[in-house]
Amino acid sequence: MDKSKKYCVTSALPYANGALHLGHLAGAYLPADIYVRYLRGLGADVIFICGSDEHGAAITIRAKKDGISPREIIDKYHALNKATFEQLGISFDHYDRTSAPLHHETAQAFFKKLIDKGGELEERLSEQYFDEEYQQFLADRYIMGECPNCANPEAYGDQCERCGTTLSPLELKNPKSMLSGATPILKETSHWYFRLDKHGDWLREWIKTGVLDGQQHHDPKAWKNHVVGQCLSWLDDGDGLQPRSITRDLDWGIPVPMPGAEGKVLYVWFDAPIGYISSTKQWAADNGKNWEDYWKGDPDKLQLVHFIGKDNIVFHCIVFPAMLKAHGDYALPVNVPANQFLNFEGRKFSKSKGWGIEQHEYLEEFADFPNKEDALRWALIRNLPENKDADFKWDEFVDFYDKDLADKLGNFINRVITLTNSYYGGIATASSATVPDNIKGLVESLCEDIEAYNLKAAASTLVEIASWGNQYLQDTAPWAIRKTDPDSPVIALCISTSLQLVNLLAVLCEPFIPFTSLKIRNLLNLPAVKTGELGEVIAKLKNGEALLPAGHQVGQPEILFAKINDRNDKSRLEIIERQKAKLEAILAAEQQSNPEGAGNSTIQQYSPMKDEIQYDDFAKMDIRTATITAAERIPKADKLLKLTVDLGFEQRTVASGIAEQFTPEEVVGKQVLLLANLAPRKIRGVESQGMILMAEDGEGKLSFVQAGEAFGPGLGVK
Ligand code: MF3
Ligand code: ZN
Repeated sequence: MDKSKKYCVTSALPYANGALHLGHLAGAYLPADIYVRYLRGLGADVIFICGSDEHGAAITIRAKKDGISPREIIDKYHALNKATFEQLGISFDHYDRTSAPLHHETAQAFFKKLIDKGGELEERLSEQYFDEEYQQFLADRYIMGECPNCANPEAYGDQCERCGTTLSPLELKNPKSMLSGATPILKETSHWYFRLDKHGDWLREWIKTGVLDGQQHHDPKAWKNHVVGQCLSWLDDGDGLQPRSITRDLDWGIPVPMPGAEGKVLYVWFDAPIGYISSTKQWAADNGKNWEDYWKGDPDKLQLVHFIGKDNIVFHCIVFPAMLKAHGDYALPVNVPANQFLNFEGRKFSKSKGWGIEQHEYLEEFADFPNKEDALRWALIRNLPENKDADFKWDEFVDFYDKDLADKLGNFINRVITLTNSYYGGIATASSATVPDNIKGLVESLCEDIEAYNLKAAASTLVEIASWGNQYLQDTAPWAIRKTDPDSPVIALCISTSLQLVNLLAVLCEPFIPFTSLKIRNLLNLPAVKTGELGEVIAKLKNGEALLPAGHQVGQPEILFAKINDRNDKSRLEIIERQKAKLEAILAAEQQSNPEGAGNSTIQQYSPMKDEIQYDDFAKMDIRTATITAAERIPKADKLLKLTVDLGFEQRTVASGIAEQFTPEEVVGKQVLLLANLAPRKIRGVESQGMILMAEDGEGKLSFVQAGEAFGPGLGVK
């Protein structure tokens, strides 16, 4: 964090066409909130900007489905989403909406500026699909057809949701109108195109090296691999960047501010990101600030950071930066820490199938669940899809709550407050107590992780600090010393040191679980953690100063987190069980309507995805076809078979952990794949020279992986 900089942190403007589910929360909103709360803690000059995306086909198609007007749709979901974010502690400084007049003005002025500059926008005639019955052009989602890439028959005119390919309507096979269902005709119309093709060179340099206009703009290594990878594959795809049409023939949206452009509006993906700017403008107007301070001026002093899901990467890393650069004066994002997707109990969230839970549903169904907001935040934080897709599971929700929040954090704090009350009438004693050095190191790494957008890692460090506290209490055992040597100074020192840690935890957990932070501070008889306080605490740690003055009176102990898995009180577990029962019911219904549908009968337990690797990591593996020529059991090792494997040009001995599922007789003669350059290792006295590849299902059942029968041994696998 740099105090001389202005931080403008944005979360993707959600479409106001429906409620948001936990995947959205984990993708773009909760991570941004943690980051912003952390920056506020350090006293940074930061604004957190968001709002509803209220234009485009997402809205009008939804309105048509529900038989109400687009206006009714956006009013309903804008209010709902704004309110649920607030309840979950997502601390936007401003949550605007793109239907606001100020946004319309801002987007139109942006468009006009590009026209006036010349060379950035171009009017072109083209043929577009047209529904004769409805007398309407069919943009984006108004048209469906077969995906040219994966043959999905239900691809949209702008994107195939099955394979993720970006499409234009003319690429679809067998196009059908979403309005009438009829095959559309082609009709000529004129639109404005943004000359994105002119921006490829500087974009590539900027994304690859972080250099912009000859200056180092950002550290390219600070960007996530999957973000840079997706951008480069776009930039280097086929003919490179193409001009993009940024207007549509629609009656819902921001009118194109040009003579003769009646009936045309700006494309939603042109106006929506400008919403970050107009939302900042409104915030500034409401708060007597200057919006330009956060968007314009010395690029070294501006920290624009976009939090988004991976489906929005191209718009935030390529198209919007190009728009900003084309316009001129604007800062470009210093980072776009996009997240991958969160699944739900092994499947994609699906509203139509009822699979998943929406933010507001969670708040309603967990109304009686204590600490429901932080319980959810914590479960999502511990499982953020930072660099790979993640899976939300109710059982893990319980574990994270019971093990981290109840057993570690809550337990430590409760013990310390209780001891302070029973030994010293609640008054912090020794003033000499400071936070131990190893804890200072942990605080440092927690901060570094947040600044690098590794929020999951930062959260585990928080747990580590609480665990250390528990262990310290346990090892010092002041209650035991008190019995034999009641005047020992060790007792007061231990309690006092622990109190320092409790206050440290209250401050450190504020970005993650702000509701809990407030409760801890109540227990300490202190006001809520304030802006800049984290910075003060870090300074005190450096100087070896106490975080809680001697003589401070703390409050009465109170259980912060009652475990969900509690033998005597099942009320919390029941709320979880209700959720699981809903899923079981969906699966049972599916099973009934499709009894053959194997594998769907229970919640699929996919093994978690591993961390992303580079191609080079993969290329290092020498995988080859091979044949098992001999097999025998290894004495006293129930799981292992000793195999002789033929690679064509040499024989190998391999110890393989398959003996519980395969007899030696049945594996002899099997074609297999062998990882042939794995360093040899002695296993139960057998020198194993490679590893046989096996697939494993959710129940641990193994199956050989093979090349086709016609392939002899020794061939490479790529
Ligand atoms: N509404 C879009 C979505 O939900 C995101 C818009 S982000 C913005 O995918 F930058 F355009 F605002
Ligand atoms: Zn497809």
